[in-house]
Amino acid sequence: MSEPRKLFIKSYGCQMNVYDSHRMADTMAREGYVETPTPEDADLIILNTCHIRERAAEKVYSELGRVRELKSAAKQQDRQVLVAVAGCVAQAEGAEIIRRAPVVDLVIGPQNIHRLPNLVSRALGGKPIVDTEFPVEDKFDYLPAPTTSKTKARGVTAFVTVQEGCDKFCTFCVVPYTRGIEVSRPVKKILADVERLAEDGVAEVTLIGQNVNAYHGVGPDGQAWTLARLFERLSEIPGIVRLRYMTSHPRDMSEDLIKAHRELPKLMPFVHLPVQSGSDRVLRLMNRRHRCDEYLKIVFHLREARSDIAISSDFIVGFPGETDRDFEKTLDLIQNVQFASAYSFKYSSRPGTGAAKLDKQISEAVKNERLLHLQELIEKQRHAFNESMRDKILDVLFEKSGRLPGQVAGRAPYLQPVQVMASSHLIGQVAPVRIIDVGSNSLFGEAVTMTHAAKPIAMAVGVA
Ligand code: 5AD
Ligand code: SF4
Repeated sequence: MSEPRKLFIKSYGCQMNVYDSHRMADTMAREGYVETPTPEDADLIILNTCHIRERAAEKVYSELGRVRELKSAAKQQDRQVLVAVAGCVAQAEGAEIIRRAPVVDLVIGPQNIHRLPNLVSRALGGKPIVDTEFPVEDKFDYLPAPTTSKTKARGVTAFVTVQEGCDKFCTFCVVPYTRGIEVSRPVKKILADVERLAEDGVAEVTLIGQNVNAYHGVGPDGQAWTLARLFERLSEIPGIVRLRYMTSHPRDMSEDLIKAHRELPKLMPFVHLPVQSGSDRVLRLMNRRHRCDEYLKIVFHLREARSDIAISSDFIVGFPGETDRDFEKTLDLIQNVQFASAYSFKYSSRPGTGAAKLDKQISEAVKNERLLHLQELIEKQRHAFNESMRDKILDVLFEKSGRLPGQVAGRAPYLQPVQVMASSHLIGQVAPVRIIDVGSNSLFGEAVTMTHAAKPIAMAVGVA
């Protein structure tokens, strides 16, 4: 019998890409490809790219330089290696990729993953292929029905895409151009995915979408369901003990979703809610369609619904025209909110977006300085948030063996990794853990034997 062909996928960027990489691996598994962790022995190399920031695309091109060497080394041994570029860089740059990096055999946009096997077999014929057309039909109808096949459970936690694309057109962002307009998957399909995952032993599901809280998929009753309604239904699935979601837009943070945080114990107390800037003037230039006071109000209501809720965010510094005063307002907002964590980026101009045409681009030196300053503040808050967990008892969902022998690792409700010296039997379960130490990224705890069920988290943790 011949050796199975090997597939190596490198994923860049967001969770959506990680998920798409899984889909590609699943799709190619049906064609007899097995995944390999190293590109050296792969017959098919896929770079699943991200186009959000400039350097990300550049990284892909330098990676392609390394891939070229692998490909020519393989050729000398009479081995054909196919190189594909997928994801948002593929969507945005199309044929330009093959022009700049002729090592690439196939360029495939994120909407067209279902066509991968067919495109691969055509590319094996030797002619470079570019497929970045948006399908006319509902793109989700092309997805292989299950997100993971029965024989390939991916552990205790899983991601399920519920919507894709975005219509918000923030002026810095390429997503509406690379991922297309916002489309929500029907409830029925999501339920089928989550039920299957639960049967496979998955205990925590994170619903993902570029603008996940804009979800409005058609429900079994023919009505558009909100994300909150979907969570309510998913809460009923046996075996699923935790629900999460990302990424949300402040404009779509509806009352019923906030209420869901109060009413659904399975919905974890963590919200990733990008604000980008603390200056209304900059938010207007960004076309964010929300003001700072509205953002703060949402945070207030979220904390009213669930006092221990952890808020995380995204920030961009050095947006064109951002003054020192604007930046100070961002720092003020951060002080005001007290974030559990946040991602921050220097603005990078993306061709074709509104902001690329704006005057007053900010110098690299100023961007660097602001980024450093902002990250220092966020880091302090993250540290303070984690420190506040000390001596508390948190419910931990155990996912895998820990870093050290005898350790098991899981996550707190607020998403921090938690390491505990305990039996690996805990993997797949939620157990109460007393936090005894706080590291730079992880919490360290000891399993607590409780005579009663673990105390509800809001009581155990108190007000943030
Ligand atoms: N420059 C810098 N950061 C960006 N982001 C998106 N586009 C850009 C850009 N052009 C950031 C935003 C977004 C996150 C995913 O990436 O903060 O929320
Ligand atoms: Fe991009 Fe704005 Fe849509 Fe987020 S909401 S994906 S930043 S356009």
